[in-house]
Amino acid sequence: MISFTLPKWYDLHTHFRQGDVLPAYIQAHLDMGCAGALAMPNTKPPTAIVFDKDKSEYWSIERYMRDLRNAGGSKFQELVVPLYLTIDTTPDMIIEGAKSGILKACKYYPPHGTTGAEFGAPIDKYIENGIFTAMEVAGVILCIHGEEHGLSPDKYFDRSTNAEEIFYSTHMPIIRDKFPKLKIVCEHITTKTAVDFVSESSDKVAATVTPQHLIYTIGDLIQGLKYHLFCLPVLKHCEDRNALQAAVTAPDNTKFFAGTDSAPHSIKATKCGCAAGCFTGGIAPQLYAMSFELAGVDLSDQKSQDIFKNFLCLNGANFYNLPIPQENFTLVKQASPLKALKTSNGEVMPLPLGLGMDILPWAIQN
Ligand code: NCD
Ligand code: ZN
Repeated sequence: MISFTLPKWYDLHTHFRQGDVLPAYIQAHLDMGCAGALAMPNTKPPTAIVFDKDKSEYWSIERYMRDLRNAGGSKFQELVVPLYLTIDTTPDMIIEGAKSGILKACKYYPPHGTTGAEFGAPIDKYIENGIFTAMEVAGVILCIHGEEHGLSPDKYFDRSTNAEEIFYSTHMPIIRDKFPKLKIVCEHITTKTAVDFVSESSDKVAATVTPQHLIYTIGDLIQGLKYHLFCLPVLKHCEDRNALQAAVTAPDNTKFFAGTDSAPHSIKATKCGCAAGCFTGGIAPQLYAMSFELAGVDLSDQKSQDIFKNFLCLNGANFYNLPIPQENFTLVKQASPLKALKTSNGEVMPLPLGLGMDILPWAIQN
């Protein structure tokens, strides 16, 4: 039986939500060997100011961090909440936030581009109004949801291109070249175009990759309309998945790291649509291990285990300057049953269960 021990890891892109559901989601992350997380700020209202003292309709990072800690997040070694960039964000907020140590990253959402993205502004705004300059000066990391916003459906997902490819071939080179010292995380990338952009850029540019984008393609979503697989950016094609697999399994990979984008929705299918987001809390290392195997990696081999460790445990911590945890957890190639997670707001389906898979080939021993 394959079994290997890894340092606890940081999920560098996740959604814990807010209110009474927090303890269940945070516990699921603790259960999968997480020593910390980057908790996304698309709360309601968005987490778009830094300090409590700055009275506002928005939530502050201080407030959200407090809620997270009180709901079990104090067991994490590290917790990062990026600031949601809105039209009200100012360069002073960035400088002051960074100085205090509370502000480590900011999050760009394409306006109306995904769940909770209604407060985003077009990317050019932050190029022009001094926000990216302030972040570059203050050493604050930019987390980018890289999709072109406001496209008509025929451009959004077309045979020859899509919202992510357009964003990575138009805006991203400009941002990278205008702000060469700005650290950028290209989040939940899904296309070969984005993989190539990250690979060709300096070490200031890195990317998170989700389990679902490493395992599935758009065909898995469409065949039978398996709506539990609907997340944004939407799944892409084989060529894209192959490029993602090659990037994360490369022996010299330092730029691509784990960020699950676990995004729980207790109600996925609505009367006239579907909420975007896949829930992978509790099972992400197991899914990542499956994706490595799918890419042809033999995880019984020590060298392959080291490559997996780079992706899951080391690269992201290094990019965010977080300490590598001393505590360990163990991944075992052993069948483990999947069940829905009970929360105060109803049950949430872990992604594979939503696809009809009720046993995972890997298990976690904490
Ligand atoms: C996320 C959510 O539900 O908050 N959904 C998703 O499809 N990934 C938002 C996001 O990160 O895009
Ligand atoms: Zn997300």
